[in-house]
Amino acid sequence: MTTYRIALIPGDGIGLPVVDAAWTVLERAGALHGFQLSATRFPWSCDFYRQTGAMMPADGIETLRGFDAILLGAVGWPAAVPDAVSLHGLLLPIRKAFRQYANIRPHRLLPGVEGPLRRQGFDILCIRENTEGEYSGAGGRVHVGTPDEVAVETAVFTRVGVERILRFGFEQARARRGKLASVTKSNAQKHTMVFWDEMTKAIAADYPDVEVTPYHIDAMAARMVMAPDTLDVVVASNLFGDILTDLGAAIQGGLGFAASANINPDRTAPSMFEPVHGSAPDIAHLGIANPIATIWSGAMMLEHLGEREAAAGVMRAVEAATASGIGTRPGQDRTDAIASTVLRALG
Ligand code: IPM
Ligand code: MN
Repeated sequence: MTTYRIALIPGDGIGLPVVDAAWTVLERAGALHGFQLSATRFPWSCDFYRQTGAMMPADGIETLRGFDAILLGAVGWPAAVPDAVSLHGLLLPIRKAFRQYANIRPHRLLPGVEGPLRRQGFDILCIRENTEGEYSGAGGRVHVGTPDEVAVETAVFTRVGVERILRFGFEQARARRGKLASVTKSNAQKHTMVFWDEMTKAIAADYPDVEVTPYHIDAMAARMVMAPDTLDVVVASNLFGDILTDLGAAIQGGLGFAASANINPDRTAPSMFEPVHGSAPDIAHLGIANPIATIWSGAMMLEHLGEREAAAGVMRAVEAATASGIGTRPGQDRTDAIASTVLRALG
């Protein structure tokens, strides 16, 4: 029997219960479809930081490299560790070190879920550049704390980085409804974003079957609210993709439903699967975190591992659960109750 080795990093806050809930569903899917998932749990988190002074051990990346995939809950506990420290100590270095350059985030309404928009039918796949751009980490501060203080954070767009994410977006569009929206702000940012627009145009020549439309980020934000049904695949830089996917989460009923996959398309290192939401300290101890975003992310993991039928089975079970009304409104159902309904639907 095939066994996949999965690194579990539940992280902080609601990351723990949602990963536990998703894991029971994924294990059952394996049993039903003839493969095994073997979990190795890593306690890397803000608690770990308090005990050791680091979010993960110095050889953490090398430890993870041997796994088939990573399932992550959420990172961050700002009351104990500043977010800029915890995220730059765990989540962001994994995305970069493992060249997980494509962050895939699907936005659609699950059956039974009512979003805030009157217009209900949309199916958007956001492709977010995940290793460079505004998240490059290049920059610094001088004259700290003085009236002359300067802070600089440089967005870095490389030809390799832009080309590969755009090609990834075109491929996704080709496999779906053939429409690609490329999001920039080239009317204001005349170097990086004009470069992105030029690359989009050049690569479009290789995809005559894909209809590509450039949008500015502000117009795209409005379109995702006013006319989300006109969108298919949306490709954007790291920060723009970050913002648009919280908007995508909102129109799909909330962050409890928003799944994501940090993919290394070249498969030279493990990919990482995580819900879009954070650790939610305000509800962390209430037992009401919605595990659906993590279960859906887990389904994306199964798909990436090549277990297509199991992935589809998990999504059918999630849809059957939400269609019955469970987990469709924030705080209405307990994490365990949602997970066990999905489990029952799985068979
Ligand atoms: C996300 C999150 C992260 C990001 C934060 C926690 C650094 O918001 O995955 O969308 O901005 O990438
Ligand atoms: Mn985000």
